[in-house]
Amino acid sequence: MTRMLLTSVGILAWLRALGMAYAAGDAQAGKANSAACAGCHGPNGEGIGSNPPLAGKSEEQIVQALQDYKSGKRANPVMKSIASILADLDMSNIGAYYASLEK
Ligand code: HEC
Repeated sequence: MTRMLLTSVGILAWLRALGMAYAAGDAQAGKANSAACAGCHGPNGEGIGSNPPLAGKSEEQIVQALQDYKSGKRANPVMKSIASILADLDMSNIGAYYASLEK
């Protein structure tokens, strides 16, 4: 847990250093929410079969994808129903969590 926190802090510092806009989600909170995703995307976000991997994607990519599923811009009935129950804060937290995992 400490190591994970340090890793997130390290990644944050690194992204800031690169000058990237970063909506700092809480990876620890996201980890709890990710239980709802693990059945399809794998316990470590590694992907299972046709369910794409999430580990190592940026928080921005994950939040964008979830918002697009929710709005219907990206059409997928399964992900739409899941994204629809997520609030913006959940999305950033989950995004931060998967971004903290190795590909
Ligand atoms: C029932 C299975 C299932 C569950 C549960 C599920 N997903 Fe998905 N997810 C999919 C499938 C299938 C796709 C690919 C959809 C497509 O083709 O766009 C996907 C795509 C995604 C993508 C886009 C990935 C990319 O490479 O663009 C993200 C991000 C994502 N899911 C996040 C989540 C999160 C976060 C959760 C949990 C809150 C979750 N998913 C739960 C099946 C699932």
